[in-house]
Amino acid sequence: MFVTVILPDGKEHKLEAPEGWRLMEVIRDYGLPIKAECGGASACATCHVRVAPEWLNKLSAPHDEEMDMLDEVFDADERSRLSCQILTSDNLDGLVVELASDALDKAKIEAA
Ligand code: FES
Repeated sequence: MFVTVILPDGKEHKLEAPEGWRLMEVIRDYGLPIKAECGGASACATCHVRVAPEWLNKLSAPHDEEMDMLDEVFDADERSRLSCQILTSDNLDGLVVELASDALDKAKIEAA
C-alpha cells in the first residue's frame, strides 16, 4: 500500500507502507523530518498530521488518549490525528496526510 505525505512546504512524498505499521513509523523510516518525540506512546503529539477530508471517515475513530493529546495542540482541528495511532492497512491504500508544522523536525532539515 502507499500513502502520500505532504510536508509543510507543500512537497508531496509517496511512501510504500508495510501493512500493520504505525503511520508515524513509515514517515520516520523514510527519513522525512517528523519529530515523534515519544516514539509512538501517544504522549507528545509531535507526530501531528492532518488527514485529507476524503479519508477522515475511513480511519478508525481516535481513542480517548489520542483525543486528550490533540486537545493540547494549539492549532489542532477536525482533521487532526496522531500519526502514531494510525495503523496502515490495505483499506487505507492511497491515504493522504499533511504533516503539521508543529510536528516538523527542523533540526533534521538543517542537517540534511
Ligand atoms: S509520537 Fe508521540 S504522540 Fe505520536
